[in-house]
Amino acid sequence: MKERSVLGALLLGVVLCACKSAKQPELGEPLADLTQAQRAQFDEGKKVFQRVFEPKDGLGPLFNSTSCAECHEQPVVGGVGDEIEIHATRFLAPNSCDPLFQEGGPVIQQDATPLLRAKGIEKEQIPPSATSQARRSTPPLFGFGLVDAIPESAILSHERRHGAYRDGIAGHANRTIDGRVGRFGRKAAVATLSDFNAGAFPQEMGVTTPSSPVEETINGTPVPPDTDPAPDPEITAEDIDKVTAFTRFLAPPPRQVFTNHTNRSLARRGQKLFARLECAVCHIPKMKTGPTGIKALDRKTVALYSDLLVHDMGAALADICLGQAHPSDFRTELLMGLRFREKFLHDGSAKTVQEAIERHGGEAQNARDRFKALGDKDKKALLKFLETI
Ligand code: HEC
Ligand code: HEC
Repeated sequence: MKERSVLGALLLGVVLCACKSAKQPELGEPLADLTQAQRAQFDEGKKVFQRVFEPKDGLGPLFNSTSCAECHEQPVVGGVGDEIEIHATRFLAPNSCDPLFQEGGPVIQQDATPLLRAKGIEKEQIPPSATSQARRSTPPLFGFGLVDAIPESAILSHERRHGAYRDGIAGHANRTIDGRVGRFGRKAAVATLSDFNAGAFPQEMGVTTPSSPVEETINGTPVPPDTDPAPDPEITAEDIDKVTAFTRFLAPPPRQVFTNHTNRSLARRGQKLFARLECAVCHIPKMKTGPTGIKALDRKTVALYSDLLVHDMGAALADICLGQAHPSDFRTELLMGLRFREKFLHDGSAKTVQEAIERHGGEAQNARDRFKALGDKDKKALLKFLETI
């Protein structure tokens, strides 16, 4: 008996040890194996991400919210939020997409500071030349440094531009004006995390930056005098870099491991179905980052469940164009951390994961139909699998 318990304790020790070495960072924690200096950058960047701007610090005069973390906040800083933004652009078939910079840009700011309100302006309007508008829910940013570190060639290797396969799935990369492969935003229009972050300050908070030092116009009209007291730029390049360090070092969401046998075998069955239904043709389970001097990002596997390409999802989901993404084209949404989201699809209009799947159209129509044709137990298995990723 005594011997057994010693053996038991030993075994337990081995198991605990194994768990400890494989321990994944919790949601909102930084990547494992950061250097001390990188860890400090993460902490400082998190503070800037949470910094609440007031008009005297550069907020507005037009803005959507007062801090990055005011939107990216659930269930922890860096996550989703209940804010829904309005975007608008002008699309002329077959291929012309105008982001309407002369009329205030694609992001329509929904709020204004007291000084601007005193001039009778409470928000930006949809530009008259816009052909469509879009609603955008706030996405999570966990693991995005790894996504940023995936080489362009890995993304391009999944392109199927020339002639769709029998499954009807094509998919192409969006590109920036200077030809880089886009990957961030629901239309994958932005190439790097640092570009997206630098753009978020002026567009979301009305905070001018060294690369965007002039206040954005109000639908094309410069802001009235005396409505913007803070000197430009309203944030330094160093502070923007800190925010990028925070988002870069934010760990991907931890996988969920079911201890209950029924759930575990359901999830295993669901994983097979995910492949068999061809969900995984677009929601590619894994990609690898390229070589980089940052050890925590160097040649790591990231279980993103996306090809980072845009796909035609059908007329029912279509809204605006952006770059080379047409109104019905959307980036395959990353499914990592799906269980931490509360609403689904680009506009947050799907209340459940099942509804999001059932509203896939266009290139994903066949996969959707195969999902709909599953029996209840198989549907449940697929959804159970999605809870693990
Ligand atoms: C008003 C709410 C709001 C604020 C404030 C905000 N964001 Fe966002 N963020 C969004 C929305 C909405 C999107 C999706 C945009 C799209 O799909 O085009 C987004 C997307 C992103 C993305 C790309 C995510 C993806 O899925 O590719 C990054 C990175 C990001 N935000 C960083 C920031 C940073 C950094 C700040 C602060 C400077 C910030 N955001 C402030 C709402 C917000
Ligand atoms: C042709 C490519 C493609 C295929 C095939 C596909 N998807 Fe998607 N999926 C997308 C795109 C693009 C989006 C984003 C749509 C949007 O935001 O409107 C998406 C979104 C989702 C979402 C919502 C994620 C969120 O957080 O909003 C889920 C869940 C999902 N897909 C699961 C599946 C499952 C399960 C299958 C297989 C039955 C599947 N997808 C097949 C491209 C695809």
